[in-house]
Amino acid sequence: MDLLQSRLATLSDREDFLTKMIKARERGIHLRLSDCRSLFRFYFTRYEDIDAATAVPLKYLKPVAQEAMRVYPPLPFALPHVVPQGGCSHFLMSGTVVSTSTFAASMSTANFSEPWEFKPERWIGENLTNDLDASQPFSYGTRSCMGRSLGWMELHTIMAKIIYRNDMEPVDDNVD
Ligand code: HEM
Repeated sequence: MDLLQSRLATLSDREDFLTKMIKARERGIHLRLSDCRSLFRFYFTRYEDIDAATAVPLKYLKPVAQEAMRVYPPLPFALPHVVPQGGCSHFLMSGTVVSTSTFAASMSTANFSEPWEFKPERWIGENLTNDLDASQPFSYGTRSCMGRSLGWMELHTIMAKIIYRNDMEPVDDNVD
């Protein structure tokens, strides 16, 4: 991390892989997968160095995972919930099965601007055009995922390890 910070703080005419990324960032261009891989191989010296302690602080990984789970909800179908005895605050009879389609909620323009675009940056900083709470990959309420924190830790570590070790490329630039 120190290496990366000092490189970012140094103005130099000598071009390297970070020059390309910095220029892309200034022009608002998304980084390509190969750029991310270069960055990871710069940041981590060895595959074995990647664990929860080193991967979780990588700030861009979480928005990428959040956006991935918005576009491809891990549980794409609507989970059924049964209205309990006494009904609920809306007029619904007890025993009624209610559910929300995670995919519809994620892809509705009422919740997200340009919902079909993969934009991790919508999860960063102040957000006026997206209702981020509309994406709930771990579900919501009293029966939501109990392993959410462990899930996040695993997601960070696994993503970092996959990107570090593999030379990946999209199968189809228009889709992936
Ligand atoms: C990215 C990883 C994960 C995702 C996306 C995920 C997602 C979910 C979802 C959607 C539910 C259903 C909640 C509902 O019925 O409303 C759930 C339930 C649950 N998850 Fe996860 N999960 C993940 C990882 C984990 C891990 C690592 C553990 C445990 C080590 C775990 C333990 C549980 C348990 C125990 C429930 C049942 C909760 C209950 O019914 O009260 N999950 N998860």
